[in-house]
Parts: sequence; C-alpha cells; structure tokens
Amino acid sequence: MSKDVIIRFEHVTKQYDGLVVLDDVSFEIERGKFYTLLGPSGCGKTTILRLIAGFIEPTKGTIYFNGKNINHVPANKRQVNTVFQDYALFPHLNVFENVAFGLRVKKMKYADIQEKVAEALRFVNLEGYEHREIREMSGGQRQRVAIARAIVNEPEVLLLDEPLSALDLKLRTEMQYELRELQRRLGITFIFVTHDQEEALAMSDQIFVLHKGKIQQSGTPKDIYDEPVNRFVADFIGESNILPGTMIADFLVEFAGKRFECVDQGFYPNEPVEVVIRPEDLEITTRDQGKLQVRVDSQLFRGVHYELCCYDQHGNEWLVHSTKKAEVGEEIGLYFEPEAIHVMRVSEAQEVSDGEGSDET
Ligand SMILES: Nc1ncnc2c1ncn2[C@@H]1O[C@H](COP(=O)(O)OP(=O)(O)OP(=O)(O)O)[C@@H](O)[C@H]1O
Ligand SMILES: [Mg+2]
Repeated sequence: MSKDVIIRFEHVTKQYDGLVVLDDVSFEIERGKFYTLLGPSGCGKTTILRLIAGFIEPTKGTIYFNGKNINHVPANKRQVNTVFQDYALFPHLNVFENVAFGLRVKKMKYADIQEKVAEALRFVNLEGYEHREIREMSGGQRQRVAIARAIVNEPEVLLLDEPLSALDLKLRTEMQYELRELQRRLGITFIFVTHDQEEALAMSDQIFVLHKGKIQQSGTPKDIYDEPVNRFVADFIGESNILPGTMIADFLVEFAGKRFECVDQGFYPNEPVEVVIRPEDLEITTRDQGKLQVRVDSQLFRGVHYELCCYDQHGNEWLVHSTKKAEVGEEIGLYFEPEAIHVMRVSEAQEVSDGEGSDET
C-alpha cells in the first residue's frame, strides 16, 4: 500500500539572524497518525510547528501539504489548527464563545455554529459547560476547551505544543489517554510536542527525536526505545547504561573486559562501538551466575522496583532496575540476554556529541 503523505519537509532550514535553529530537516507525516516531536528545550520543536502552521517561512527548503508547496501560503489559508501551551483562551468569553470564535470569524450561520460547538464539546467531554466562564474552569477543563476550539474548525492537522505541561501528573496521565482516544475517534493527524520521553513513548505512532535543530531518529516508540541510533537518543529516551566497547565480529561484542554474544552485525572487525543496556534488562543474580560481577554502591526504592547503582571492577557504573533487593556493599552478578545489548556506531554517537555545549545559551 502506498503511503498517504499529508506533510513533507524537504531540506528545510530555518535561521534567525544567521543562527541556524533548524538544520536541513527532511521528513514525512502520514495522514491520520499521531506524531510526536520530542527533544530538549531549544531543539526546534516549536519552530517546526510554526512552519507547519504558517506563522513563519523556511529560510531554505520546501514544505509540502497534500503534495503542494505551501511555503508562501498564509496561516489562515492552511488546514491546520494549533493548541498552544498556555491554551491562549479568551478570558472574557465563556466556553461557548471561545469554541465558536473561529466559526464566527468565518461568518457561519448561528444554528450551524450551535451544532458544531455542541459536537466539539461532546468530543472533549464538556457537554453542558457552554455558559461557564473560563476562570471557573480547572486546568484540565481549560485544556479541553482549547482542544474543542481547535477541532471545531475541522482541521486536517492538529498541532499541539506541549499542551499537557501545565497539568499535575495524575491529570496529565488522564489527558494523555484522552488525547490519544480523541485522535483515534477524529481520525485526523496530530503533531504533538513534548520534552517528556515517557509521554512520547505512551502516545505516539511515530516519534521524531530532535536535538540542536536536527532529527536524530524517527521511528515507532519501540524502535526508538529498543534501537537508539546514537548516544543522545539512548540517553534522552529513558535511563541507560552506555559504555565503550569493541565489535569483535558479527554477534560478538567486547565491553567491561569481557566478550558477550549479541544480536548485532555488519560492523568492521574490531570496530569501536558504544554499547547500551537498559537498567530494566539487567537481572540480579548471585555472583557466580552473573555474566558480569559488580558491587552495589547504592539502592533506592522506587515503588515498583529498586534502583541500584553498581560498579564493575573497571569502574564502569551500572544502573539496575529490579524487583529484587540487594545490600549496599554486596557483590552481585548481573545477567542479561544477548537481545538486551544494543550496539551503536561510535561515529553516530560522536557526530551528535561534537560541539556539545558550544552554543548553549
Ligand atoms: N523569533 C526568534 N528569533 C530568534 N531566535 C529564535 C526565535 N524563535 C526561536 N528562536 C530560537 O530557536 C531555537 C529553537 O526554538 P524553539 O522554540 O523551536 O525550541 P523548542 O524546541 O520549542 O524549545 P522549548 O522546549 O523550550 O519550547 C531556540 O534556540 C530559540 O532561542
Ligand atoms: Mg517550544
């Protein structure tokens, strides 16, 4: 089946006063999916949304929407709506008028406006709130009004810029679930921005991991979690053990002074690599049964699991998440399956860490 591409970025660069904030970015967005732009502050997430919405134009490159170049199409002519981080609701208007705003601008008939607003409020579970003032709504409810106001215009694409960051953890988790459900029911394309990796993993069909104006990796949550392409992604997506190693041959890697069977291949003999093992992929055993021997340096109880910080004889730090407990100072073994070892090329890791910190503000 051919891909149904709704938005395409082709070598898009955005500069402000000569400073590159998006650097030759190319990607495709398929219709009807939930996409997340994930990355640390300042990496260019909002810039991508603003380019799609038409608030700014690229310095170089082309943006396509349904196959047409939209570089110079003004924002109000695009089939796109944005939910902003601070919701940007009109405080002096009630819920109904906030949601109706775009329709009134379009001079729609009042009876049609009523019907559409009612439908949008139903979608976000705010039926009966039409006459409430915005100041009488909770954070989560305001967030839903903002979404209703965006979807009432029936956009083809909904852009959401960190819409959940102002909410407390419990509400945030509820809204994650609701947003995902809403996207499924509406069937429109969502492009969601967050710097929270767990949120991205939980919600998305596809994630773009951004760093310093470049897409580091794109893929499904599972691709990105299981097979990070470089140190930045491995580090940013959840806690990891990352250590230097050597790919001896296909399916055989050396690190921490030992050789281990792995599932990776296609490297040069003795190619220097970086090895990633997730803390939850390490199992605590007796010293003799472990593939590696470590000493427990500290231990924290995290509710579901214990988080152990251990050191091997070479001084490498090993973070372990385990439902089993150990004693601080104890010598234990760590066991892991060959699949738990993820091997990355050093060149890929290097490229990103080069210049690290050089242009931080
Ligand atoms: N109008 C502007 N003029 C100059 N520089 C800008 C402008 N807008 C954004 N930038 C710069 O572009 C870079 C990317 O900004 P952007 O807002 O896209 O980051 P972000 O990933 O959304 O970050 P955050 O998570 O903090 O919202 C930043 O370094 C920012 O300072
Ligand atoms: Mg931003």
